[in-house]
Amino acid sequence: MTDASKQCDRDQRIEWFVKARFGLFVHWGLYSLLGRHEWVMNRERIPVEEYEKLADAWRPGPFPAREWAKLARSAGMKYAVLTTKHHEGFCLWDTEMTDYNAVRHAPGRDLVREFVDACREEGLRIGFYHSLMDWHHPDGVACLNDESARRRFLDYIQGCIRELCTNYGKIDIFWHDVAWPLPDAEAWESEKMNGMIRELQPGILINNRSKLPEDFGTPEESVRAAEPGRAWEACMTFNGSWGYMPSAIDWHSARDVLHMLRKAAGGRGNLLLNIGPAPDGSIPDEAIERLATVGEWLSKNGEAVYGLTDRIDEHLQNVPTGRWTLKGRTAYFWSHRWPGTELTIGGLQTPLKRASYLDGGDEIEFEQTDDRLVLNGLPEACPDELASICVLKMEFEDPPRQVLGRGCVVID
Ligand code: GLC
Repeated sequence: MTDASKQCDRDQRIEWFVKARFGLFVHWGLYSLLGRHEWVMNRERIPVEEYEKLADAWRPGPFPAREWAKLARSAGMKYAVLTTKHHEGFCLWDTEMTDYNAVRHAPGRDLVREFVDACREEGLRIGFYHSLMDWHHPDGVACLNDESARRRFLDYIQGCIRELCTNYGKIDIFWHDVAWPLPDAEAWESEKMNGMIRELQPGILINNRSKLPEDFGTPEESVRAAEPGRAWEACMTFNGSWGYMPSAIDWHSARDVLHMLRKAAGGRGNLLLNIGPAPDGSIPDEAIERLATVGEWLSKNGEAVYGLTDRIDEHLQNVPTGRWTLKGRTAYFWSHRWPGTELTIGGLQTPLKRASYLDGGDEIEFEQTDDRLVLNGLPEACPDELASICVLKMEFEDPPRQVLGRGCVVID
């Protein structure tokens, strides 16, 4: 394949993903039992033999994935990604590669199968997270300096991935994580590994964490656009920890999540928002409450979020009363600081044809002079009661352009 046809093939494969915009990340594993972050084994230097005992103590409740998938769908998410194996090395699926798995230990079930079934029931696309770094496998560290250990470890990793891509039907995303300790794609055999994934799962999307760029970038804990032309997905914790951690109480508000979504849509990227279920699989109430609000808001304002958006950075600028998302000639002004009965936006160079509230569709009167647009007859208080973010839909004659001179730039 030439580079151009590769790009064309990728553009087609990735279209659903870019339009979907919003996904659920689920971090669940033995670390959930300890409730002290998914890195607890490493950070507390827990010996393998001691940590392994968790595998015989873990008794998840019945089919929690159903609750996750329902929550994701009602929150307006279109796909979900599960940690099939995190750095701790415990495999949540029925694998022949190791006994250290959910079927042969206390859970006694294939937790990946349940996740896949639940996603399908709710119409969500399916992603598998899989950590290359492995603190449990005897060759997971030795592979760096011992060639036969490296061979064994790669065979193990590739065997795991082969099962995940063979036994669960169609998988939409393969989400590698932490390519440590080997130095580069060659040492990881990433081309061969990802080639196998694509052969087993034509159409799958692969992230950029196997030391190859593949289909999309993965900024972490920060929603920022990758270089133009490259797809990206920001992964974000809800409360500062990926794994279940009851002491992590600084939850993002529903409003914060909507800001993340706006930044993602405004940069043509995605948001993968995480939950860390408790050991029984239940989702913390804080996440449930906030996601319910996000879902309700999206049911009214989703048009400003989903679908093929354009990057705003070449078109529009932030102003103190709001921010933008954009689709061709239609711009969506997300007013998060309501101005009162009149909203003035400076610097718009393109004639406006129509303005309306995205929620409800009522038209808004406006006047546009040289470079000032004034919308009037607005209510005193922000009409959005869910998150105080009201989206005003503005249909322009051409793709809009806004130029604000020096000294007027508002940093987001
Ligand atoms: C980092 C962390 C890991 C987490 C991942 C999510 O790589 O090591 O714990 O799963 O980010 O992106």
